[in-house]
Amino acid sequence: VFYSDSGSTSVEVALKMALGYFRNIGAPRSRIVVMDHSYHGDTIGTMSVGARSVFNAAYEPWLFEVDTIPFPAAGREQETLDRFEAVSRDQRAAALIVEPLVLGAGGMLMYPAWVLAELKNIAKTSGTLLIADEVMTGWGRTGTMFACEQASISPDILCASKGLTGGAIPLAATLATDAIFQAHYSTDRKKTFFHSSSYTANPIACAAALANVEIWRDEPVAERIATLSGMHVAGLQRFRDNPYFTDCRSTGTIAALDLRADSAGYLAEIGPKLRAFFLDRGLLIRPLGNVLYLMPPYCITGGELDGLYDAIEEAGARFGSRP
Ligand SMILES: Cc1ncc(COP(=O)(O)O)c(C=O)c1O
Repeated sequence: VFYSDSGSTSVEVALKMALGYFRNIGAPRSRIVVMDHSYHGDTIGTMSVGARSVFNAAYEPWLFEVDTIPFPAAGREQETLDRFEAVSRDQRAAALIVEPLVLGAGGMLMYPAWVLAELKNIAKTSGTLLIADEVMTGWGRTGTMFACEQASISPDILCASKGLTGGAIPLAATLATDAIFQAHYSTDRKKTFFHSSSYTANPIACAAALANVEIWRDEPVAERIATLSGMHVAGLQRFRDNPYFTDCRSTGTIAALDLRADSAGYLAEIGPKLRAFFLDRGLLIRPLGNVLYLMPPYCITGGELDGLYDAIEEAGARFGSRP
């Protein structure tokens, strides 16, 4: 376990671990495979493995090349698997990095656990490491402690942050398998895992994380998460035949739906209008363009959640376009 201080640094560390592993075992690999529409952070390395978009257009000349596999859209999952199989066949890929089950900043795109399990299978066959970026999905967000559990897989490297301290204080952890640890554990100092920061494993942040772990241990957190997940399923029901919305979806405690609008994407005109509309009602909902999503704290009540769904329904009638 290697500590750092943000989701971005946990991913940066994961990439360095993957590359360092192959170098230290004497079989260097240099390619990283990524999933289209992903977001992994805002440092140069993490922007490089994220989707090219408005977030990083200005820094494009500095971003390194990656191999991209398509998002496993419903009914087209095999294309994703085939592409990964093809890019990993020559054994130049050090790692595949994915956001398991839910791609966050890319638009709350959701895919099934069996696809994740298949990706892990292909990775294993070609010796490619699987990095699970659970910065957003970890700590119960998708209904289980970690999203990978739903695919019954164990990644080679796992990134955790946000929920690690209940979102209260910056802390991150990158977890690696014993093989990756051993490749860096040597009397040969050139094999050291070279990453450091003044604030690595900051004691105050670790105390907050321990307090969070105690809450998970002592309070019925899993039950709360199950209740919230059920409330989303019920809450989304009323939008299924609402003409202003499409693609109502939820995975655990994350719910999302797309508002039919003239333009889509992060910079869609509708985004700031929706945000202002909700703020006027005292609600902090941050739309990703025309994508509305709810990722509430686990202590939210049914009444509060209903209020959010009421406001979303109202926003649909006010701003949505009919098909
Ligand atoms: C999946 C994922 N990875 C990485 C990050 C980056 O985390 P941070 O903002 O703490 O650097 C985020 C942040 O939203 C994220 O959702």
